[in-house]
Amino acid sequence: MYRTHTCGELRISDAGRKVTLAGWVQKARKLGGMTFIDLRDRYGITQLVTEEEIEVGREWVIQVEGQVVERQSKNPKMDTGDIEIKIEKVNVLNKAQTPPFTIEEVSDGGEDIRAKYRYLDLRRAPLQRALALRHRLAQEIRTYLDGKGFMEIETPYLIKSTPEGARDFVVPSRMNPGEFYALPQSPQTFKQLLMVAGYDRYFQIVRCFRDEDLRADRQPEFPQIDCEMSFVEQEDVLNMFEGMMRSMFKNALGVDIPDPLPRMSWYDAMDNYGSDKPDVRFGMEIHEITDLVKGCGFSVFDSAEYVGAICAPVAEYTRKQIDELTEWVKRPQVGAKGLVYIKIGEEGTKSSVDKFYTPEQIQAVCDRLGAKKGDMVLILCGAKRKTQTQLGVLRIEMGNRLGLRDPKVFAPLWIVDFPLLEWSDEDQRFYAMHHPFTAPKPEHEQWFYSDRKEDLEKVCANAYDFVLNGTELGGGSIRIHNAQMQQRMFEVLGISKEDAEYKFGFIINAFKFGAPPHGGLAFGFDRVCALFGGQETIRDYIAFPKNNQGRDVMIDSPSKIDQSQMDELYLESKATE
Ligand code: AMO
Repeated sequence: MYRTHTCGELRISDAGRKVTLAGWVQKARKLGGMTFIDLRDRYGITQLVTEEEIEVGREWVIQVEGQVVERQSKNPKMDTGDIEIKIEKVNVLNKAQTPPFTIEEVSDGGEDIRAKYRYLDLRRAPLQRALALRHRLAQEIRTYLDGKGFMEIETPYLIKSTPEGARDFVVPSRMNPGEFYALPQSPQTFKQLLMVAGYDRYFQIVRCFRDEDLRADRQPEFPQIDCEMSFVEQEDVLNMFEGMMRSMFKNALGVDIPDPLPRMSWYDAMDNYGSDKPDVRFGMEIHEITDLVKGCGFSVFDSAEYVGAICAPVAEYTRKQIDELTEWVKRPQVGAKGLVYIKIGEEGTKSSVDKFYTPEQIQAVCDRLGAKKGDMVLILCGAKRKTQTQLGVLRIEMGNRLGLRDPKVFAPLWIVDFPLLEWSDEDQRFYAMHHPFTAPKPEHEQWFYSDRKEDLEKVCANAYDFVLNGTELGGGSIRIHNAQMQQRMFEVLGISKEDAEYKFGFIINAFKFGAPPHGGLAFGFDRVCALFGGQETIRDYIAFPKNNQGRDVMIDSPSKIDQSQMDELYLESKATE
């Protein structure tokens, strides 16, 4: 037997026992003729002690036999801090090279080196806690959905392109020269086909692949908690999945979330928070002030479609700080032209546009924002949605600066009533805001069949997003289940009949064979784990993630393949050496 106990298990009540432990040497130190060793495994750290000379190094794998004894100086911060093991016998199972960084709670290694030696980084407690949380959540999800009659069904990875708005990763087919599979951006069409097949309640924790620009909350491959139900309306889907989230919060974190969860329309989210994924942990809402400031001789506002503002308690900001904030909103990532402010300081109200407005007009703006002494009103202007989005980004920045975004506070909500379609000026066509299988709200169907752009723009989707603390955790919709309506959708999106037939003929066809009304959603599992763990970066919650360039630096991938492999796949290399 390699071990009788783990390194996180022994307590004062075990004193006197003979035990065998196995693990990694985190640290060895000499003190007054004694050697102390911290022995670590997944379960914790146990201190070993001996008076003999022993040869061990960091990260050596050893097995020790010894007796549990009460410690002279106890360590209340450790679960095993009341005891230590008096070594009787040491067996070195494997020596180790000195690791390139310290494997402790906080490591001295930079991000790149830790990524290269990911298997060493994964030995550290914070990563082990992250993956343990991930495992716990996956179990909660399976237990909840199994309890509600959902069946876990696998769908294929080698498929044909599914339109979720990103680029596909493709795989050449050796047996079908010149043809390619696409890896699924999501199993959207398959889960709908499972509904046609009568499976009624499906789920899968499933890998999805998207070739898109990466960010802190995006990976090229990521798992979704993918779900679909038949004979449901939006209300049924929202109830089912806020129930799942409620049980995850309760069982994994001991946190109660509101019942029912708040809902907000997409239009309200954009108007009041400048984002379709509002962080509602703090106020600082956006107010439109176009009617109060337009037509008073200040040409910047006079020529703007929309003027909006937020109010933050930063009246003490100096000229220099305001200039810095102005530069910040002018960065390409935000894209504002400039920033107008009204400061309500100790010596009265002062603004950057005082010469254009009377004190009464300035006061009216302050009143609309509810601004009081100590506040500063921050104003942006321009095209409506664009300016709201910029104000939304500024709001989050001020929330960060003021410490209003506590990761231990959870404010989940549903965003509903999205527009079904999004017009692209560049391409002169509509795009599906969610995906082309999303149904219009029944009461807007007459507009959906209209040929007028203004009518189509008004159609709301029967769609919903689950938003937590400013991140979109999941989204879904009630689907189109009627072949003729699905065809109309492709027509509205400017996809020709032939193209729709080539790409989606299988699903349009399936809808002709008795498709039930159905709907569902998918959560991004990495994001769920990270936010539950109080982080915005998902990488620490993934055992082997990719970096921002989409590379796995540990295995050095992607990489070139042999010419013979290229030949076999009928591929020619265009990339230069
Ligand atoms: P959607 O495209 O909104 O919907 O994706 C669902 C959720 O998946 C997560 N997600 C990601 N997570 C990590 N890295 C990425 N690159 C990434 N992209 C998306 C997000 C998102 O909310 N088929 C539909 C669902 C449906 O309609 O049922 C779909 O895929 O958390």
